[in-house]
Amino acid sequence: MKAYVIDGDGGIDGLMLIDRDIPAPGAGEILVRLKANAINFRDLATIKNAGARGITEQRIPNSDGAGIVEEIGAGVTEFAVGDRVVGTFFQNWISGPVHEGVAASALGGAIDGLLCEYALLKETGALPIPEHLSFEEAATLPCAGLTAWNCLIESGGARSGDTALLLGTGGVSIFAQQMAAMSGIRTILTSSSDEKLSRAAALGADSLVNYRNTPDWEQAVMELTGGRGVDLVVEVGGGGTLAKSIDAVRIGGRISLVGVLTGGQIDPTPIMRKSITLQGIYVGPRDMFARMNAALTQNNIHPVIDTVVDFKNAKDAYRLMESGQHFGKIVITL
Ligand SMILES: NC(=O)c1ccc[n+]([C@@H]2O[C@H](COP(=O)([O-])OP(=O)(O)OC[C@H]3O[C@@H](n4cnc5c(N)ncnc54)[C@H](OP(=O)(O)O)[C@@H]3O)[C@@H](O)[C@H]2O)c1
Repeated sequence: MKAYVIDGDGGIDGLMLIDRDIPAPGAGEILVRLKANAINFRDLATIKNAGARGITEQRIPNSDGAGIVEEIGAGVTEFAVGDRVVGTFFQNWISGPVHEGVAASALGGAIDGLLCEYALLKETGALPIPEHLSFEEAATLPCAGLTAWNCLIESGGARSGDTALLLGTGGVSIFAQQMAAMSGIRTILTSSSDEKLSRAAALGADSLVNYRNTPDWEQAVMELTGGRGVDLVVEVGGGGTLAKSIDAVRIGGRISLVGVLTGGQIDPTPIMRKSITLQGIYVGPRDMFARMNAALTQNNIHPVIDTVVDFKNAKDAYRLMESGQHFGKIVITL
């Protein structure tokens, strides 16, 4: 089978397309014929900084993929040959709080990912694809989809009538916009591009701020909330945006921190003065993924896909992400 591998610190250009044997499923494993991958900022960062991330041997990138069960190993009862399945980001996180051992099971990071024709998944590291979704759409769910759901709903605790601040128009933020709209949560969404803001408005974003034209966007957010601040921030920016997010959240509000897009330092004092809950989120467990899928199905939500590229042109997907031109998700089809 064909597989792309990271081999050293060569970045996108250094990705190599190689031949590998199709693996055989062991007990509790399924062999999946991949039909689609979706890429995340994290996959791009891993390809560009493999050495710094502790990757010292050839590693297949990408956490997110969907496909068809080709073969099942001994003892597998949840899936049968021919089933449509999507993998979980962490192969070892089934339910409950995050625990030691979770990070070591991250696809496309600690272990081989899914940018290949066939891959083994644990039976407990896959879920059925919601019936209303294509392989391409389902492939977008494991990282960006579940992270948005966790940030906003499960750990975020946002409810109908709350106001959430969403930063930018990448994969996580656009999923968060769709989930907020289906849940009656008001959103204030920022972007560097007026054209992208218009597209976000079409998805139901209630208030829009161009963070490039409005560098003091936290003040704009305060004005849009009548001086109160938002209930929740889905923080994808990281060090460079966190101080402003702290300013933009209400007293007693919550920030779900996932992002590392920008660097910078913060003063922790306002976190205390405003009694903010600042929580780190790392994707989420499998049972949460299943609950998200049920909600997406109930609300007939289709993920927003910007561009689909063919497997043979997979490098173009990362180049597009690097350019920052995308809105929502970028998918590779096999
Ligand atoms: N902890 C976790 O579990 C987890 C899971 C998923 C993602 N993440 C992290 O979350 C971040 C976003 O990931 P993603 O896959 O959604 O990325 P992505 O699809 O590449 O989206 C990036 C978008 O962020 C916006 N952006 C960039 N710099 C910004 C800034 N200074 N202020 C506001 N927005 C900015 C841009 O939107 P515009 O073009 O509209 O300006 C850009 O298109 C990354 O840091 C990623 O590592 C973490």
